[in-house]
Amino acid sequence: MNRVFIRTYGCQMNERDSEAVAALLRARGYRIVQDEAACDVLLLNTCSVRDAAEQKAIGKAANVAQQRKRNPRFILGILGCMAQNRGAALLDALPDVDLIVGTQKFHQVPDYLDNLRAAQAAGTPLGSTIVDIAEEAGSQNTIRDHVLEDKQVTAFVSIQQGCNMDCSFCIVPKTRGDERSRPMDEIVRECEELADRGVREVTLLGQIVTSYGRRDYAHTDGVTPFVQLLTRVNAIPGIKRIRFTSPHPRGFKDDLIQAYGRLEKLCEYVHLPLQSGSDQILKAMNRPYSRDRYRQIVDDLRRVRPDMYFSTDIIVGFPGETEEDFAQTRELFEACNYDMAYIFKYSIRTGTPAATMAVQVPDEVKEARNQALLAILGANSTRRNATLLGTTQEVLVEGPDKKGFGYMGRTRGNRIVHFAATERLISELVPVQIERASTAVLYGSLALAGVPN
Ligand code: SAH
Ligand code: F3S
Repeated sequence: MNRVFIRTYGCQMNERDSEAVAALLRARGYRIVQDEAACDVLLLNTCSVRDAAEQKAIGKAANVAQQRKRNPRFILGILGCMAQNRGAALLDALPDVDLIVGTQKFHQVPDYLDNLRAAQAAGTPLGSTIVDIAEEAGSQNTIRDHVLEDKQVTAFVSIQQGCNMDCSFCIVPKTRGDERSRPMDEIVRECEELADRGVREVTLLGQIVTSYGRRDYAHTDGVTPFVQLLTRVNAIPGIKRIRFTSPHPRGFKDDLIQAYGRLEKLCEYVHLPLQSGSDQILKAMNRPYSRDRYRQIVDDLRRVRPDMYFSTDIIVGFPGETEEDFAQTRELFEACNYDMAYIFKYSIRTGTPAATMAVQVPDEVKEARNQALLAILGANSTRRNATLLGTTQEVLVEGPDKKGFGYMGRTRGNRIVHFAATERLISELVPVQIERASTAVLYGSLALAGVPN
């Protein structure tokens, strides 16, 4: 009766939170299973950033509750952002949920499950739902335990929780709370431990990582705490690559730009959320930069690393976005030549300032703008991959691929490569000659002169 299945919706931070919950549950004697049909406890770790994400999780929970109605021993829990956003009100739609746990209480999940199971064992019917969406000082320090697969070479490391930026469209400050950073020493220690366990690439996670530690650490010689952290992680011998997500354009001062020239492990791939290319819309979004400033950052980074890969987030159809505003976005989107982008249709989030702005954009218009940007992205990505044909790329071997091509890994620019290799090469950086490319992935072969593969 202790088999737990965790289903995660949303961003990498949610994935990381789920992993930390899984590690805590394992330490408490629970079994984490990969087969939903074989679980006694189903936990949905949810996302609130767009309405569709919430509806998906609600639909899933309703389904599960229906199917398991006749099994009094089954436990259904809703965790994370939607739990935080909606709290006990979720019970109106989902009366059969046993557990609702918010974003600052993930570490309490083992205790709550123990309580629910003890009540079951005593024959007490589970009448009332446990709801805990309180704030908790220091909760950012509780996301630190990892469940590593055998030979896992990449890992997420949470460095910060919450966000204080108040972008007018965004529910995250409500669901994740105030910006709180973990102590730098603890993060460095976690990265060292991961390296000892075989991890070679870490992705530092937070809602606004460039603000990391701004209240807790002083600048040293004009270097922000975030860049100090990058510098320390760069010095860990076992770690070979560093990535991070998500930064804010505001955080790209000279120290971070120069870090790309100075820190050899910092991959030349940056996710730089633009949201809109229109100054008017940026202002309405409460994003504190202009299109010119954003373009300047891209140019500065390309000056330091001419081979820099860029990715971004865009919202189309923000309230009041005119054809002219969108034309500005499209123009800047093309000029930045993104290799990857996440394009979202604006979704009304109750309680945010943008939700009540007068001119909402019709769905067909959002869809057309979405398609226009996707077409540009597809062409860019294909073009970039074509330039890689015949080159030799450094690839971190992650493991067997699921498509049957052999093994897979990523370039420093975060392109997925499929190639023939052997198990022995997992976690190694190897040169791979690129022979074939599609829009999304690359295919190649090992270029190991004299080394049998
Ligand atoms: N700082 C976080 C933001 C989390 S939300 C990060 O960059 O990862 C992730 C993205 O979702 C945002 O960058 C934005 O592009 C998009 N988004 C946020 N609120 C939205 C909304 N109401 N409608 C559509 N997209 C939204
Ligand atoms: Fe959301 Fe803006 Fe923060 S997008 S997470 S309020 S930087």
